[in-house]
Amino acid sequence: MKTLRTFAVLAVTMIAVPALAEGDAAKGEKAFKKCKACHMIVNGDEVIFKGGKTGPNLYGVIGRQAGSVDGFKYSKSLKALGESGFVWDEATLAEWVTNPKDFLKAHDQAPKTKMSFKLKKGGEDVAAYLASVGPKAE
Ligand code: HEC
Repeated sequence: MKTLRTFAVLAVTMIAVPALAEGDAAKGEKAFKKCKACHMIVNGDEVIFKGGKTGPNLYGVIGRQAGSVDGFKYSKSLKALGESGFVWDEATLAEWVTNPKDFLKAHDQAPKTKMSFKLKKGGEDVAAYLASVGPKAE
């Protein structure tokens, strides 16, 4: 009986752990394939993840002011969000990719963005991956 109870407690603990939303960078790297059509991760000459130019370079995006990549033509809303002092962190980036329009609305901006993409799940993982390849990880 005692063994059985121990087993039950263990099983519950094992189920409970993955429910905590902690990003997994390895999973995030795989999930970034969904972003690469529009985003690259490039640090000067170093190409970390080859990708398109529809969206801004995401190198160092964690800890960077929103809408601040030089030369990229952002929507008014994202630019205004950045100018209000908003800086990306892992939690907000995970929220953004889930629904960029709702995210802007929740941050008092017009819900108009050039990013026409929603990631159903795994936003925390992509955020953890982006943080891991950013300048802070060095
Ligand atoms: C269909 C193209 C497309 C896809 C796919 C896409 N994005 Fe974007 N993304 C954009 C565009 C365009 C912008 C600029 C939005 C604006 O100006 O409103 C953007 C903006 C962003 C920003 C804000 C960057 C900044 O400098 O403030 C982040 C963060 C971001 N995308 C992350 C992601 C991630 C992570 C994925 C994959 C899960 C992804 N995007 C998939 C097109 C895309």
